[in-house]
Amino acid sequence: MTARELIERLGGLAFGGDYNPEQWDEPVWAEDDELMRRARVNLATVGVFSWALMEPEEGRYDFAWLDAHLDRLHANGVAVDLATPTASPPPWFTKAHPDALPVTPDGVQLVHGSRDTYCLAAPAYRDAARRIASALAERYGRHPAVALWHVHNEYATLCWCDHAAAAFRDWLRDRHGTLDALNEAWGTAFWSQRYTSWDDVLPPRATQWHHNPGQTLDFRRFGSDLALAAYREQRDAIRAHSDRPVTTNLMLPGYQNLDLWAFGRELDFVTIDHYPDRPGLDAAADTAFGADRARSFGGGRPWLLMEQGTNTVYAERRVLPKDPGDILRHTLGHIARGSDGALFFQWRQSKAGAETWHSAIVPHAGPDSRIFREVTEVGEAVARLAEVAGSTVTAEVAVLHDADAWWASEVDGLPSPDPDYHTRLRHAHRALWDAGVVTDFAHPEHDLGRYRLVLAPALFLLSDAGAANLSRYVAEGGTLLVQHFSGAVDERMQARLGGYPAPALREALGVRVEEPRPLRRDERITLSNGAQGTLWSESMRVEDAETVASYTHGMLAGRPALTRHAFGAGHGWYLSTVLDTTDYAELVGRLLEEAGVVTEWPPGVEAVTRGGWQFLLNHGGDTVPLPQTAHDLLTGGPLTELPPHGCAVLRMP
Ligand code: GLA
Repeated sequence: MTARELIERLGGLAFGGDYNPEQWDEPVWAEDDELMRRARVNLATVGVFSWALMEPEEGRYDFAWLDAHLDRLHANGVAVDLATPTASPPPWFTKAHPDALPVTPDGVQLVHGSRDTYCLAAPAYRDAARRIASALAERYGRHPAVALWHVHNEYATLCWCDHAAAAFRDWLRDRHGTLDALNEAWGTAFWSQRYTSWDDVLPPRATQWHHNPGQTLDFRRFGSDLALAAYREQRDAIRAHSDRPVTTNLMLPGYQNLDLWAFGRELDFVTIDHYPDRPGLDAAADTAFGADRARSFGGGRPWLLMEQGTNTVYAERRVLPKDPGDILRHTLGHIARGSDGALFFQWRQSKAGAETWHSAIVPHAGPDSRIFREVTEVGEAVARLAEVAGSTVTAEVAVLHDADAWWASEVDGLPSPDPDYHTRLRHAHRALWDAGVVTDFAHPEHDLGRYRLVLAPALFLLSDAGAANLSRYVAEGGTLLVQHFSGAVDERMQARLGGYPAPALREALGVRVEEPRPLRRDERITLSNGAQGTLWSESMRVEDAETVASYTHGMLAGRPALTRHAFGAGHGWYLSTVLDTTDYAELVGRLLEEAGVVTEWPPGVEAVTRGGWQFLLNHGGDTVPLPQTAHDLLTGGPLTELPPHGCAVLRMP
């Protein structure tokens, strides 16, 4: 099943958000109906945090209130994205199943009072979750209002309890087979960690000093697989009663407890929640960063923006007030890159509870407010884009992303805490975004043949298969940039011997890294081409690569910093330091040129082709003439120029 069923049902793109009518009384519901029509809402997510109402005591379900809301929404022309409420177990759950509560690495058991208080490995939690998913699907599987199933909310919770320990051991048995293989993989010969019984193997709980890196990495992998198993279980329970698509909302961009490639394969289509944590141009770039990842995790198919904010979120999320026009720009930014609509968290701003200050479509001030008026305008704009639904985006450039590499770069005991994985990934994507290039993300073991250029900004861990794949990509004509400290460990977290990176990749890059030399945070290192390196440097040798720039001082003076290697039909580049934005932009510009990737729009114009439509977002203050007059879906008329800070969606001839 795909997003197609949903958009056929909606007759266009989805627009709406999380709807929590249980927080309000009847007169408000009547107003909601009227306001939803005004805002052109056609999809509402219902039930995400309603477990306590749906199952007031264990095993006793009460769905009468939900029947009424679903019928009302349906009568009002609003389809329902029905959620299973399993991200927030009610207080009775704590009392009945204390063993199913999450335990932190320090051994502290958490209780209800917030949300996400469960252990995904606890049988009592899994049973309760499966039962309520099944009860909901049985009752609403064929309900005319239900267009989509929303399992859980933002899987991401890890637990270190005894249930988690037992499940971790089972997972390790599957992965490693024998205890000897586990001991070998984790290098337990060091610090006398050799295991002689499976029962002694634990999650990485609080310990005296550094954890074993293999154990830490395997625990992250296990955590993601456990969440996926919990998702599948609910999905399958729903499928037994319903033929509507099933998904779960993934939190992007900063959460990293899941292997999102694996989730992408299991969801009927990908949905994400996205809250940019910087204002202005940075927020626009971050929107593209989230959207490009969402599309890529779903294999290029259309996906759906399940949540965004209309304004501030709360201090911890660092989401600042949005300026007038931002809601439209962010919405179009997502739709341009493949989202079949835009939903918000949440419909009506709560008057009480933990997210009282989280912005919403209908703010505390009510519908007579800037925000509601803006959302209404955005709803009209989205309705005019119906013909775009279902179309796809193709990219010529990819950035490599691998959860294993991310997790590996967060273990204890690395030579430097800088630069971190997520920053590097964003930096690479941002340089391409600034250059006006639409980017996919890809896994190092994916077929990369369709990309002219591939950037590998942060592959500290690289499997043998990944290294061979990258080498093949270059040999067959690709241009690849690999950045510092990539391929330094294999899939077991064991250091590559004989020089970094992994042997197959060394061949494609024509270099051999001997020694990482992290820099202090305030230190800079100059390169012979005038660029400045920060955070990291490496002592390396060119085997048969060409040195494009070398270091100019200190013990690395005269040593290569940036290299280029003609290998087979392509080129492998290696950068052994971290360049500032401007220097990195210059390098990326050169790579784009060498790879033959051309951009047609002036800087500041974000242009994305989706199917037969071109989305244009002018982030600058100048008027930009169009090469030819075109029909703009947003205004419904011909357009000859893009106004300052204006947006357009052009139907291409
Ligand atoms: C997530 C959740 C919502 C809400 C928002 C806050 O996306 O799914 O319930 O907490 O974060 O931004």
